[in-house]
Amino acid sequence: MKGLTGKTALITGASSGIGQSIAIRLAKEGCNVVINYRSDSEGAETTRQRAMEKACQDVENCGVKSLLIQGDVSKEEDAVSLVQQTIEHFGQLDILINNAGVQTESPSDAIEVDDFDWVLGVNLRGAYLCARETIKHLLAQNRPGSIINISSVHEIIPRPQYLSYSISKGGMGNMTKTLALEYAAKGIRVNGIAPGATITPINEAWTEDPEKQAEVESHIPMGRAGTSDEMAAAVAFFASDEAAYITGQTLYIDGGLTLYADFQEPWSA
Ligand code: NAI
Repeated sequence: MKGLTGKTALITGASSGIGQSIAIRLAKEGCNVVINYRSDSEGAETTRQRAMEKACQDVENCGVKSLLIQGDVSKEEDAVSLVQQTIEHFGQLDILINNAGVQTESPSDAIEVDDFDWVLGVNLRGAYLCARETIKHLLAQNRPGSIINISSVHEIIPRPQYLSYSISKGGMGNMTKTLALEYAAKGIRVNGIAPGATITPINEAWTEDPEKQAEVESHIPMGRAGTSDEMAAAVAFFASDEAAYITGQTLYIDGGLTLYADFQEPWSA
């Protein structure tokens, strides 16, 4: 895709799932990739190896570089250090992918406050802190840049028993728009993708049980869950110059989940 070669991309939570696929895809497109992980150093190393292999499928991109950085995005000092280390190493940061995310399940009348704070802390505060540090750097170097937030269909679909997750993704949608508007004139684009049910470790409760997976997929108009590579493709597009005039948008990638599937058939004759 146009305009990705030689860019530096930081992907949070890139040791598994969608983040891993994004790092691999951006490396294939010629970006240097910074692979952030919280605790799974082995997963991060796998991401690095697969990213470098993919990049090298195209001789021109064989010089692509990678950097692994441990850090918890919900901690201010870690978010600051993530961006600082990226710039020290590569001299620039052009693309931030706010992908790190967690969820907990509980009836809303019984959520432990620590769990509530944890989910908001990683999904929303962490995304903001990484965006803040990236924007500071872009403004200081007077560079254009692109921030892509990995949201969820629960940015707009309420999800009982997952209140903190729904709130975090709803907030992320507003953050995408607010930052997009605030920095549009500086050449900083901010967009989001909102995946539907996607086969990744966060969903192992149903991806590892064929019956449960079939039940989940029965609710999806296209009849199947998505893949992390399908999410990464849209992220690469948003990060590229093909999307140069797009900002403040969230793209729903969900097999039709947000189309009110109950209306697929007429309710009455
Ligand atoms: P995942 O569990 O494989 O990925 C989440 C990643 O975030 C993990 O690598 C985890 O280690 C990392 N992480 C968690 N806390 C962190 C922290 N404090 N600092 C740094 N990294 C941290 O699951 P998946 O599905 O790849 O999730 C990626 C994003 O996609 C999340 O934001 C999730 O909410 C979103 N998403 C996923 C959907 C799905 O069906 N898989 C659907 C909609 C959104």
